[in-house]
Amino acid sequence: MIKKILPAIEQCAQEINLLISQNDRIDYSKGQNISGDKQLDLDVKADNIIAQILLDLDCVQGICSEEKEKAIYKESGDYLIAYDPLDGSSIIDSNLSVGSIFGIYQGGFEARCLVGAAYIVYGPRLELVFADKTPEVFRQIYTDKNWIKLPPLQLKQNGKINAPGGTQKYWETKHKELIEGFFAQGYRLRYSGGMVPDLHQILVKGGGIFSYPATIDAPKGKLRKLFEVFPFAFIYEKAGGEAIDGKKNILELNAQSLHDTTPCFFGSKDEIKQVKQVYGKKI
Ligand code: AHM
Ligand code: MG
Repeated sequence: MIKKILPAIEQCAQEINLLISQNDRIDYSKGQNISGDKQLDLDVKADNIIAQILLDLDCVQGICSEEKEKAIYKESGDYLIAYDPLDGSSIIDSNLSVGSIFGIYQGGFEARCLVGAAYIVYGPRLELVFADKTPEVFRQIYTDKNWIKLPPLQLKQNGKINAPGGTQKYWETKHKELIEGFFAQGYRLRYSGGMVPDLHQILVKGGGIFSYPATIDAPKGKLRKLFEVFPFAFIYEKAGGEAIDGKKNILELNAQSLHDTTPCFFGSKDEIKQVKQVYGKKI
């Protein structure tokens, strides 16, 4: 699978990287996506680039995007790909790293149908991370017009990074307790507001915890299952970590609709154990 799809994702990475670096149009387009987020010109352009490249592949049967209301299906093909074309577009004006995320599904847009996942980091350098059925998370960087493999990403039992998402004012009491508990143990705040660089940093440093919880204003969380949460859960598990919604494993969740969201926690084993302990308490 990855042999057929990876070159297409590499091409997306190169084209979108060029678009971001050359395009000074970080203004809003006239539209908004189905989740109600305002769309940047760049969101729309990145979406079109990926759609065109993926739909051109014989092995792709269908696509759905964070920026499109409905999925697009072809008559044949083996794989369904759900993607977020430009994650973190609200921080792009400050020139922080952003990314693209891909979930590769077979048989349906459901976590249990995932057969691969990938993300691209548009940072000071261009990186691509991907995982398929093999038990490794591959990492490569683009340099001198070539993709160069780096050692695979592997999480340790625990780390020292705490990346807590969501608006603090709206956190539930148990979530406050969890986050304060990590800081009390010596964890350090590392949070940019882009889930791609924030989750990538934990993978590269070998451990830590990223959370985007249910909040009083968003009881089902913010991050979208198919385009953001499921692909990263697949990658975290392959890297020796875990991903849960507070109690349940993310990869056991169903998606009620293409744009369904969920609270989510990604981390190495020890941190996820602590999340389960705090969220499992009766308060
Ligand atoms: P986007 O796909 O519209 O960019 O939204 C996803 C991003 C994530 O990268 C990040 O973790 C989260 O939104 C931050 O949201 P907020 O700033 O609303 O807390
Ligand atoms: Mg996103």
